[in-house]
Parts: sequence; structure tokens; C-alpha cells
Amino acid sequence: MKIIHNINEMQHLCADARMQGQKIGFVPTMGALHEGHLKLVDEARRRSDLVAVSIFVNPTQFGPGEDFEKYPRNLDGDAEKLSARGADVIFNPSAGDMYPQNSLTKIHVDTLTNGLCGAHRPGHFDGVALVVTKLFNIIGPCTAVFGRKDYQQLQVIRQFTKDLNLPVSIVGMPTVREADGLAMSSRNAYLTAEERARALSLSRALTDAHALFANGVALLTIEDHIRNNLIASFDSIDYVTLASPDTLVPLEEAQRPPKVLIAVAARIGATRLIDNTVLGEDAPPIGG
Ligand code: PAJ
Repeated sequence: MKIIHNINEMQHLCADARMQGQKIGFVPTMGALHEGHLKLVDEARRRSDLVAVSIFVNPTQFGPGEDFEKYPRNLDGDAEKLSARGADVIFNPSAGDMYPQNSLTKIHVDTLTNGLCGAHRPGHFDGVALVVTKLFNIIGPCTAVFGRKDYQQLQVIRQFTKDLNLPVSIVGMPTVREADGLAMSSRNAYLTAEERARALSLSRALTDAHALFANGVALLTIEDHIRNNLIASFDSIDYVTLASPDTLVPLEEAQRPPKVLIAVAARIGATRLIDNTVLGEDAPPIGG
């Protein structure tokens, strides 16, 4: 497995692979890899001949006061895991090469970014859209694999890929969880044992939501149930939103479509956790 830091070198390696008729599978990440990331690598491996994984903690998607500096970084540990899963190349550019002083371009996806994390992290999705567009242009035509753990991010990426005619086919994969239901996240490393135990109420509440929905309970009651559980165990709630899984538009009180996205962001201490599930589509997070 190769580790490439240079943008031109990465572009050439991918172009050469395609010239030889190889299909490229691409998994963008910020590193501190866990099984959730590695399942994306497995899927890329299954679908392609050359598997490229980017590891880049992207400064433009972090807001002031967010955890950019303390975000876990462990290139050697990540490389070991990726090599064991059969990845072919890691792309690990520097921030200076990705964002030269004189770059002026922004990418903004409208409406889809208004709610959920977009409302609580101003500029976050502009940063994601910019870095992923740049990465797609460096890798070139490929199949790119993302997790549904970051549901809004996946929808935003699908949208600009289509809007900009980028030659990339997007694959979304289910959220990978710990045995007790906690959604895997690089940020789980911030939690103490006591905080981690409290965090479990989130996947439990989302699991309850599936049963309540199947029993015909009103969506507002389901939302209240989730909020009440989170109030008891988290320190603050950014949002609990019930929305259309396609448009991310919050549901009106009278609506009860066959599929409902429940997306949550909440904080324990300084740690912000997100999770989601689609009622009528996903298996419940626990025991599903
Ligand atoms: P990162 O948080 O490292 O996540 C990289 C990819 O792994 C994303 O597609 C994310 O949805 C997926 N992922 C994370 N945890 C997962 C889990 N428990 N189950 C399934 N998939 C999971 O998302 C980013 O990085 C960045 O925003 C990025 C797209 C790389 C742009 O900088």
C-alpha cells in the first residue's frame, strides 16, 4: 500500500490506473479510522480494482471554537488498518497544498443545508462540498463510498455531484454501530466511560422510535419521547428533527409519510454526537 502526499502524484496515479482499465473506488475520510470507515473500504474493494482512501482533517469544515485542533490524528495506525483491509493507496495531502493562500472559490449547496447540522454549524457544508469536490477532481472518475451516519452530508454530496456533472458515482452505506448500539464515530474517543454510558440513550431512543412508529404513534409523540430521553442524559440538544429522507424538509404536524428521517445532534460535555435513522426503511439501531 502506497501513501501519497502530493496532489499531482495522486492525480497521475489515478489517471494511469484508469488508462490500464482499472476501476477506482474512493473513500474520503478525516482519519482516526474505525470499523464504520473500514466497512466503506470493504465496499469500495468489492466494487473496484484500485481502492484509494483519503485522510485529511479538512480545516474549512470546522467552525471557530470547534474541535479542529484536537481532532484525533493517527496516520500510522490508520495505515495499518487500511493495509489489512486491502486498500491500495492512502492520499494524505497537506492543508497548505489543498488550500493555497490565493484560492477564492466556494461551493454552496442551497436548501438541503438549511436545517439539521447546516443550521447549527454555519459554513460546515460549504467546507465539506469544497473539499469533496477538490478530492473528486484529484481522484477523477470513480465510485465514492460514504456512510449514512452523516445523512445530511451524503445528501449534500449527492446533490452537488449531480448539479456539477462530476463523473463520480456515489454509494451510501448503513451506519456501523458498537454492539450496544452507539454509532461509531472518531469523536467517541472524547467520551469518558460515564459519558459513553449516557450517550447510549440516543441509539436507544431511536430504537424506541421504530416500535412507536410501527404501532401508529403520532410523530409528535415520537419526537417528544426522543427529546425527553435526551434531556435526561445529554447536556444539551442541538436538534431532533423529523424530516423527509429525500429533501430533508421537516415534516408538518399532519403529515405521516411511509418513510421518516429522524436526525439528532446533541452534546455531552464538549462532545457533539450525531445519529439518525429512517423509520419505514432502516432496521432499528439496536436488535434490528
Ligand atoms: P469522517 O467523519 O472521517 O467520515 C468519513 C466517512 O465515514 C463518511 O462517509 C462518514 O459518513 C463515514 N462514517 C463515519 N462513521 C460511520 C459509521 N459509524 N458507520 C458508517 N459510516 C461512517 O465525513 C467526513 O469524514 C468528512 O466530512 C469528509 C467527507 C471526509 C470530508 O472532509
